Amino acid sequence: MLFPEKLHKKFKNREKSNALRKLSEQKILIDFSSNDYLGFTSSKTIFDGAHQLLIKKTIQKNGATGSRLLSGNHKLYVEAEKMLADFHNSEEALIFNSGYDANVGFFSSVPQRGDIIFYDELIHASIRDGMQMSNAKSYKFKHNDIEDLKFQIERNQKERSDQEIYIVTESVFSMDGDCPDLKSLIAFCQKYNYHLIVDEAHATGVFGDYGVGLLQKLEVENQVFARINTFGKALGCHGAVVLGSKDLKTYLVNFCRSFIYTTGLPPHSIATIQMAYEELQRTPEIEKLIENITFFTQELESKHLTSRFIKSNSAIHCCIISGNENVKKVANEIQKKGFDVKPILSPTVPQGKERLRFCLHSYNSKEEISEVLELLATFVSI
Ligand SMILES: Cc1ncc(COP(=O)(O)O)c(C=O)c1O
Repeated sequence: MLFPEKLHKKFKNREKSNALRKLSEQKILIDFSSNDYLGFTSSKTIFDGAHQLLIKKTIQKNGATGSRLLSGNHKLYVEAEKMLADFHNSEEALIFNSGYDANVGFFSSVPQRGDIIFYDELIHASIRDGMQMSNAKSYKFKHNDIEDLKFQIERNQKERSDQEIYIVTESVFSMDGDCPDLKSLIAFCQKYNYHLIVDEAHATGVFGDYGVGLLQKLEVENQVFARINTFGKALGCHGAVVLGSKDLKTYLVNFCRSFIYTTGLPPHSIATIQMAYEELQRTPEIEKLIENITFFTQELESKHLTSRFIKSNSAIHCCIISGNENVKKVANEIQKKGFDVKPILSPTVPQGKERLRFCLHSYNSKEEISEVLELLATFVSI
């Protein structure tokens, strides 16, 4: 069967601009690229704990058997959602199969026709996809720029009494590693009764006591409309949770299509999430990660690299190297020396803002950090 010409052209164009995506075999390199910030993915304690929990609860099932609204709402879900609500100091918690599902489902179902969503221009693709499926209009504002947000609202808001305004940002931006001024954003939203939603994917397990996330670290978690925390990054497993009010949970269970029309997570996944959260509360890894973040920043300073990097105090640090070809070349050279550092190409990031992305982990040694930055310094002019 012939592959459609239109599609063929699309990936040929990508090839031409040096941006064709490929699934590559995993090489064993020093990890500066995964989201496994705390090394939980290979934790034997979590792995064995999940298995033991299933045995203790006499749950011998490989799958959920159906949507959670039909046969799939196994008993571990109820316990896990209670645990998540307690841990994250939220009225309610609703687990989704992934962060992608949570964002697509939330943004396609919550904002209604006539409502408006204002989103940070660097917001994650899953939120963009959800907004595209929504009947609400959406407008972007400049990255981390409250003044531009105010301007966009003034320009686009219609005088209608029933119009709801939703504002969405991330507490740590996945491709930049920086954070918005959440306190100011919250104060602004409260003043006008706007609904703020914060994606905490890259802050969960990193910021605050026991990795509760940035909103809880700032003690403002109950001043937002909803939070989305994911388990595929620092928690080292899979799935996500929407944290919010009882009404929000009831609404999502009834109207959120990515929650309703899909098979629930298998009991084993939920047991793993429970064990990963238990581990968060006793692990020394968060402290080690924070130490490495501080060390990385000091090394940037001493190697005169600071100005090449986007300012960040999260686990994600990005060195801007303009041009797909240029950034790929530097990444390649560093990979050849044994370090897994990934180039982030346009169109994933804007043209001219291509970058080398360093994800830091609790298990990176100080020597590895120094060495990889030493190498980088030889490739980028200061
Ligand atoms: C900010 C942000 N939100 C949501 C997601 C999606 O989460 P998941 O990988 O669980 O689908 C990601 C991961 O790529 C992300 O970086």
